[in-house]
Order: sequence, then structure tokens, then C-alpha cells
Amino acid sequence: MTSSIVGQLHETLAHLKSQQQYRHLPNLEHQGRYVVHNGHTLLNIASNDYLGLGSDNELQAEFFEQLAQLPAAQLPKMSATSSRLLTGNDIQLQALESEMQEWYQHAVCQQGMSASKSVLLLNSGYHANIGILPALTTLPVNTLILADKLVHASIIDGLRLSQSKLVSYRRYRHNDYEHLAKFIEQAGPTVKRIIIVTESVFSMDGDRADLPQLVKLKAKDARIELYVDEAHAIGVLGETGLGLAEETQTLADIDYLVGTFGKAFASVGAYIMCDDIVKQWLINYMRPLIFSTALPPINHAWTRFILAKMPTLSDQRNHLAQLSTRLSQAISQLQHTAPIQQNLSYKSPIVPYILGDNARTIAKAQQLQTAGFYALPIRPPTVPANTARIRLVMNAKLTSEDCERLIQQL
Ligand SMILES: Cc1ncc(COP(=O)(O)O)c(C=O)c1O
Repeated sequence: MTSSIVGQLHETLAHLKSQQQYRHLPNLEHQGRYVVHNGHTLLNIASNDYLGLGSDNELQAEFFEQLAQLPAAQLPKMSATSSRLLTGNDIQLQALESEMQEWYQHAVCQQGMSASKSVLLLNSGYHANIGILPALTTLPVNTLILADKLVHASIIDGLRLSQSKLVSYRRYRHNDYEHLAKFIEQAGPTVKRIIIVTESVFSMDGDRADLPQLVKLKAKDARIELYVDEAHAIGVLGETGLGLAEETQTLADIDYLVGTFGKAFASVGAYIMCDDIVKQWLINYMRPLIFSTALPPINHAWTRFILAKMPTLSDQRNHLAQLSTRLSQAISQLQHTAPIQQNLSYKSPIVPYILGDNARTIAKAQQLQTAGFYALPIRPPTVPANTARIRLVMNAKLTSEDCERLIQQL
């Protein structure tokens, strides 16, 4: 690297620092629901471990005990050593795929509907979102993608990778379905396919998409397909934890139902639930699936272990809902954004405390850390300009007392 390039790197990073946008990797040690950071033990209110399964040592011990019963030859391997299309399509992975399929089928059945979907496992939510849309739009069909303004960076990257002469995309204002409907109206007859893309629970705002409303929109125009990312809802919402689509009884109407295992599942990986023909298409055209080593079988074994428990974790989901609702009521009072609402309905465990200004947000996060909470500032460009915030995240291992102590500090 020339000294001029090194100089430019330094200069740009110094600029980031001056804007209070410089990112660095924290040193952390996990201890149950706490983290040890710079020698201080802090209550973790920053992770996506919504059900607290990732910090549950007993659960992990139970998993290892189960493994210890197996003969060495049957122990799940520590690496897949190649892509699924070569030798990586291990039995653990195939079993997880069919158990996910059964989960979906069971939930749909419970809702009195009949719909069948296949499941395709992927290495991460990031892989899913950068790979699925470009693969879907490989068909030579004039396509318009309409995405919510606040979708996750991985979806934005997927949109960018989907652009071609025949594919264009627009962003509608966050959860503004009149704006979305206008884009649909404006799509002339040359547009043969419209893919609406949204998260079900938004990662930085914790609010929800109105899935039944989107399903109604879809019913009005045969060109519409729905792509919903449930990363922050899977495990958290729905009777059996299958997400907002389960809770709103829209499972059967969503064409591409995506979720991840790195959050409430306390594992790693992702999935898409879709028609079998779409699964076959993705196997043939989705580059992150074709050109990346599959996840280690040991990870799939752990995800299966969690999946077997997931439908039974309603108490944890209810406790999480109570804590989160209490916290969002307190925040809404603090921010005076809404009249004091004692009966705010539950949205999700993500409760943003929006302070706007970067310096103020950093100072508040620092104050919370000093008071014993591992709270982190989230700044632009991760969130829109002037909406810097502390992303407070509840998890099912926190107690009501923890939540009240936090509220006092806010
Ligand atoms: C909505 C959404 N989709 C996808 C991802 C990426 O998932 P993964 O961490 O499995 O790559 C994230 C990560 O935070 C997310 O918030």
C-alpha cells in the first residue's frame, strides 16, 4: 500500500472519529445475563438473545450431555468442509430443514389453512438477503422491487445486487402503505412482477410491519409477491414462536418468509420458507448458497436442539412481552412523543430510546454503563441522520426489578 493510501485511510478514520461515528470492536466476556466490559460487570441489554437461551449455561450443558451419549462416529462434525452442492449437505442440515418444514406445516394447520412450503437453510441472514433477491430476479422478467425505507443493510445490499436492465427498485416510506400503493399504481403494464420487501419487526425501531394489510394489498394485484424478513420476530412472536406471520395468521400468504438463527435461537444460520420450485431455483441460482461452505453440522445439531424446545417457550415469550411493554411505556413518557399511554400494545423486545444527537446519545450510553447496564449507542449511518439512539433490548432472563432499575436510570 502506498503511503498516500495509508494517509487517506488515517484521514478518513480521523474524520469518522470527529463525527463520533468511529466503530471499534469491544472486548467482552459473557457471564450469564451479564457481560464483563473493561473490568466492569454489566447487565446485558444490547444483545439479540431475546429468549436468553444464549446465556443459559444449563441448556448448553444439556446439549453437551446429549452429545456425550453418542458413539464417536455419530457426533456431529465441526466443519462441513464444502458447499452444500459438494459434500456439505450433512444429515444434521437435512434433518433441520425437514423439522423446520414440519414446524411451518404444523403452524399453518393450526390456523386452519392448507399451504405447503419447502425450507432452504442458508449460512446467515446476511447471506439470505444478499442472495435471494438477486437469484429471484435472474429471470428475464420486468420486475419492480418495493422495499420499506428502514429495511436492514443486508436487504439493501441484496437490492443493489439485483439491479439490471429489467429490474428496478424503489423505497416506500417506513410502514406507509399509501405510499407503497402509489408505487404499485404507477407500475405500468410493462412491469410483470412486483416484489414487496419488508422486515416483520424492524431491527432498529422495534416496530412491526402490518402483515395483514400487506396481504390485502397483494390480493389486489396478481403481480405482487411478498418477501418478509422475520429475523427479529422468530422465536419471539407467534403461538409456537414462528414469528409475526404466525401471530397475524399470514403464514400462507407470504411468498418468501426469511428468518435467522443468530438471535432468539441463540445459534447461527438462516432459512427461507417458500414454494418448492423457488427452493429448487435458489439451489441453482443463489450465489451465497452455491459458493460458500455450509455451516458446521455441530451448529445445525444445536439449532435442532433449540427448535425442539421453541414451541414450548411461551412463558418466556410472555415474560419478554411484559418487560418490553413496560419499558416502551416508560420511554414514551420520557420522550413525550405520545400522550402517556399505560396500555401501549406490545411490539417487540427492541425499544429504541431516540436522542437524535450523536454526542448526547454517547453520553447517555456512558451514563447507563456507569450505572451497570451494557447499553450501546447506535448512530448514523446505521440509522437515519439525527436519529441516534440507544437500542434497549429486553430478554427473557431479565427480571421485572432489572427493568425498573433501568427505567430509573433513563
Ligand atoms: C432484519 C435483519 N435481517 C438479517 C440480518 C442478518 O442476519 P445474520 O446476523 O444471520 O447475518 C439482521 C442482523 O442483524 C437483521 O437485523
